[in-house]
Parts: sequence; C-alpha cells; structure tokens
Amino acid sequence: MLNIGMIGTGLIARYHAQAVKICGMPCRITAICDIDEGKMEQYAADMELGDVQKYTDYRQLIDQSGADMVSVCTSNDAHKEITVYAANKGIPVLCEKPLGLNAGEVRTMAKACEEAGIINMTGFTYRRIPAMDMIKKLIDDQTLGRVYHYKGRFYADRLAPAGAPAEWRHFEEIAGSGVLGDLASHTLDMALYLLGGQCSKIKDVYADASIFVPHRKDGKTGEMKTVTADETCNIIAHFEDGTEMVLENSRYAPFEVEIHISGEKGAIKYNLSRYDEFELMLYESVADYFKTYRTIKVRVPEENGRPVPTDRMARQYRYMAECLKNRQEAHPTIRETVYIQELLDAMKASYKSEKKIYLE
Ligand SMILES: NC(=O)c1ccc[n+]([C@@H]2O[C@H](COP(=O)([O-])OP(=O)(O)OC[C@H]3O[C@@H](n4cnc5c(N)ncnc54)[C@H](O)[C@@H]3O)[C@@H](O)[C@H]2O)c1
Repeated sequence: MLNIGMIGTGLIARYHAQAVKICGMPCRITAICDIDEGKMEQYAADMELGDVQKYTDYRQLIDQSGADMVSVCTSNDAHKEITVYAANKGIPVLCEKPLGLNAGEVRTMAKACEEAGIINMTGFTYRRIPAMDMIKKLIDDQTLGRVYHYKGRFYADRLAPAGAPAEWRHFEEIAGSGVLGDLASHTLDMALYLLGGQCSKIKDVYADASIFVPHRKDGKTGEMKTVTADETCNIIAHFEDGTEMVLENSRYAPFEVEIHISGEKGAIKYNLSRYDEFELMLYESVADYFKTYRTIKVRVPEENGRPVPTDRMARQYRYMAECLKNRQEAHPTIRETVYIQELLDAMKASYKSEKKIYLE
C-alpha cells in the first residue's frame, strides 16, 4: 500500500483525493497538511478521509507521518521549499505546476531530487488525456508530415468577474506569473510532449500580456489590492526547425482547452469538451477546398464516464504509483521541467520588455 501525504488542501487537492481513490493502484491518503487549519478540517470531512493524520507544518508531515510520497498542492511560492525538504528526507514528490517562481527555483528542486535519488514528477495532467497518446503517435509516425503550426488555447474564467476576490494567483510575488504559469505552462507542456519526436527546442518567443481588472478586494481581509500577475498572455514562438507555435491564455473567456496542429499532410483538432475524441483531416483523402475532418474516437474502456479533471488526475496517480513500485523514473521529471520554466521566464521577460526574446 502506497501511503500519500497531501500538502495543501485547496481546490486541486480535492481532485487529487478523488483521483487517488479511483486510480486502480493500492494507494491512499494517510496524512494531510495545510497552514489553514479550518480548510484542512473541511477537506478531511468532504473527502471522507476518516482518521487521516493532520498537520499544519509540512516538515512534521514529512518527518512523522510515515508517508511514502508527498503531493505538493500549495500555492506556487511554497513548492520549492517543500520539494527540497522532502527530497532531503528521501521522500518521493509529485509537485503541482508551475513548479517554481522561476527557473532558478526549479533547478534547485531538480538538484535536490537528483542528489537524493528520489522519484519525482511534475503534475502536468493534460498530457495524461487519453487522446494525447494517440495524437502523439500520429505525429511521431509522420501522419501529418512536417508540422507547420501548433496552436494551443487555454481559457479559464473562474476569476474573471470584476467582483471576484483577489487570491494568490493575482500576485506575481506568490504565483511567479498569472495565466502564463497557471495555464500556458499546460499548453506548453502539451506542445513539447506532442511535437517532441519532431522538434523540441524553441529558438524565439514573443509574448503580450494584459491585466483587465487591476484592483480587487482581498478574499480574506477585504482590503483593496493591486493585481500584479498577468491575466491574459498570448505567445508566438518558433521551434528551431521553424515550426510556429501560438498559445492563447486568458482568464476572461469561457473555459476552453483546445489544440490545433497543422502539417504538410493534414491536421488535427482537439477540444477538451469532447474528451474522448479528436478530429483528423488528411489532404490525400479530401479533394475540395472546404476540407472535411473525421472524428477519431479514443477508447477509454474502464474509465468511461469519469469526470474529466479526475480522469486525467487518476491516470497521473496510477502512473506515479507504478513508477514507484517498479523503481522507474516518472516523467516529466522536475529536471525535464526546468526547460519549461526557462521558456516561461523568457515569455515573461518578453511581455515585460515588449520585445521578442531569442534563446540560446
Ligand atoms: N494540474 C492542474 O490542472 C492544476 C489545476 C489547478 C491548480 N493547480 C496547481 O495546484 C496548486 C494549488 O492550486 P489551488 O488552486 O489548489 O490553490 P488553493 O489556494 O485552492 O490551495 C492551496 C492551499 O495551499 C495551502 N498552503 C499554502 N502554503 C502552504 C504551506 N507552506 N504549507 C501547507 N499548505 C500551504 C493554502 O492554505 C491553500 O489551502 C498551484 O500550484 C496550482 O497552479 C494545478
């Protein structure tokens, strides 16, 4: 039995808890930690965690609970110190994205994990969507030929209303960045994962960002605060082979996650609202100008009907538990994620300076 310590008991930790229960591996949450005791109590009750151990200091959870691994689900500012502490104690880590506030932090985390020899992974759950494996295989098999464009869109409007309170995501000093780290980190990971067989290095990035509601009331104190983290971020980047990538990210449009990949022989479209299928168009099989896409169904035998966020999270836990059991590296490792954080840093530097950034 794999005993899991959950550190941070907010929104995403709820999906983690549901996922642990249905992931199909022998694992359970035996300890939880949050600096907000009331929130932690509510979490334990809502998630029906029974006699779970409770801590307000993550160090005590790691030192005393007997957890075999920890999931780091706190705000971004605490990821580094918790991951490094767990690694130094020899405890495997699954850490939420974005891993740190900048690439320097992520390098420190990767070094600590490597020196300790612990299995570690970043929580990029969107690559766990079943359709991604089939889309990746089609790209790797050259079904689309050379890829010209990758377009990724991630809209999430939970914090859009002007009356919505300020939370840690609105502040650069706690979040590192806004939708850039929150949403674009996912679309970027999906792009690098799907195109990795063809092109993996990015040579330049240009990003533009906006803050539409610059002042919001703090959800806890009621005090008016100035928003410092980007709320929209649109990115144009090029891979070394010239492939163009466009990523649109916004808190001000109805929830949507979509990708569109166009190549010399055809194109693929995927939208999260149609979880288990995607659209494929091949030029050789269509003659007219208005090209026809056909729907490819992705079979998910045992998981059909699972709520979408829980399904991809459950796949993540199953994979992590299998890696721990077989003592194999779990991907993406924190070291592999350093590159994503370097790209996010370059994108942030681009919108701050209003300049295109060329990468080495
Ligand atoms: N993979 C995904 O699809 C996905 C989705 C949403 C959020 N996330 C990530 O998950 C993380 C948490 O996001 P959230 O929406 O759940 O935030 P949240 O604010 O709902 O929850 C974070 C919790 O962490 C607690 N916390 C903060 N510092 C702590 C510390 N030092 N020790 C213990 N607890 C601490 C807070 O009190 C809070 O309860 C973020 O990094 C976010 O980017 C990932």
